[in-house]
Amino acid sequence: MADARITLHPDFRRGTVDRRLFGSFVEHLGRAVYTGIYEPEHAQADEHGFRRDVADLITELGVPMVRYPGGNFVSNYVWEDAVGPVEERKPFLDLAWRTVEPNLVGTDEFLQWAEREGIEPMMAVNLGTRGVDAAAALLEYCNGEAGTRWADLRIANGRTEPYGVKLWCLGNEMDGPWQIGHKDAHEYGKLAAEAGKAMKLVDPSIELVVCGSSSMQMPTFGEWERVVLSYTYDIVDHISMHAYYEEHGGDRRSFLASGTAMDQFIDRVVASADAVGAERRSDKKITISFDEWNVWYLETRFPGESNLPIQRDAPRIIEDVYSGLDAVVVGDLLVTLLNHADRVPVAALAQLVNVIAPIMTEPGGEAWRQPTFHPFATTARLAQGTALDVRVEAPSYETTRHGAAPTVTAAATVGDDGALGLFLTNRTDRVVEVDLAHVGAALALTEGHQMVADHEPAVHGPEHAAKVAETCWSSVDVASAVTGTAGGTTTVRLAPESWTAFSGTFTRA
Ligand code: AHR
Repeated sequence: MADARITLHPDFRRGTVDRRLFGSFVEHLGRAVYTGIYEPEHAQADEHGFRRDVADLITELGVPMVRYPGGNFVSNYVWEDAVGPVEERKPFLDLAWRTVEPNLVGTDEFLQWAEREGIEPMMAVNLGTRGVDAAAALLEYCNGEAGTRWADLRIANGRTEPYGVKLWCLGNEMDGPWQIGHKDAHEYGKLAAEAGKAMKLVDPSIELVVCGSSSMQMPTFGEWERVVLSYTYDIVDHISMHAYYEEHGGDRRSFLASGTAMDQFIDRVVASADAVGAERRSDKKITISFDEWNVWYLETRFPGESNLPIQRDAPRIIEDVYSGLDAVVVGDLLVTLLNHADRVPVAALAQLVNVIAPIMTEPGGEAWRQPTFHPFATTARLAQGTALDVRVEAPSYETTRHGAAPTVTAAATVGDDGALGLFLTNRTDRVVEVDLAHVGAALALTEGHQMVADHEPAVHGPEHAAKVAETCWSSVDVASAVTGTAGGTTTVRLAPESWTAFSGTFTRA
């Protein structure tokens, strides 16, 4: 008898997998921009100063959308200071990360880089130190047609065509006391509603993201969503969620169940949003923009923003190095996101380069993949079409931090052509056998990839990342992973503490 049973039915569907689910995030923080995506002195820099080797890794990662310019940074950003002739731009002291921002890369440089790389930009406006005026002006600068002040400034700065930026964040983590210009829910809700109203008058085609809670642990969680949405429900399209997970004190069991915590968080935000909708008797559904998620050793390794010294020249800030264990958790968090495809159309792995990132660089040196790169890139490649409503029957186990959590998790996607993507996590420390019951459709597995957790501390550098990839990341020999096929059931074996992706076909019988 197998340890778990997963039922796949072609008619049990969650929703379309929006490609924006595989978004990421570049903030003016540490070395994300300078010596990350942008380093004009680097041998691989293109004529615009952006690193080709990094851009190629971003393409391989499969990221279709990037959020910019923050994060906490945006809450004291004066975007006007970073447009126009570069030699006339003045550096400013970013209070969020206590770093001197040279303003060499601004809105035009970022948007043109994104355009060249085929990446959809997601922009954020400053609702910390600024307000309606600056937000509407930035949108007009980006999307306006010739003949008005800010659109004409863009044209004078050398860009005739509007950028057509679709996705806009109304500030960042405004519930957080660390945020420059932090507000209570009523202050923020009113400001977001007015900024959003003005922005939709500038360009009604945009989608707006209002700030939800910075994490489920915030004391205002729930109440924040209710109050903020009571002001903004009719104006915004999405509410943001942010969550970072880490291993605390060697508690692997809880860490491996991070996806369960993410699952609860999404369910609670959806419930909060729907409660506001129900009270208003509204047919509109607010969806989720999970625009910051990742493993981040925030509590165990980060001293806190206010304890950072004032620095310049792209300092190394929160450059977490990742292990095979972290990569298994990232794979499992993606399983959770796919299982909420009906309500989560937008997400951003925070962040993309150097700062808690799947891609690392050295100034003047190499760019390389962290272990977390592999499950992300594989999911982005294989998860196509529609997310199935997968039924998982698996025993649960007790965790200190997240209560009872399933030992096995799964998500599956099917393209119109029957291409299957199947994603499975074994959170236990032993081999498990999983029955895949395929009802109403024939299932064939063709390709498999597996990440197994390690027990080694992660070490910075391309050599260590390559070593982890060699020991933890491998192709799965499908013939030996499949331990049985009988009567519409395929049984697969999963390694201990592992994340596995299979591709294949799932075609109606
Ligand atoms: O991603 C790093 C930081 O985490 C972001 O600036 C902020 O929004 C969050 O607290």
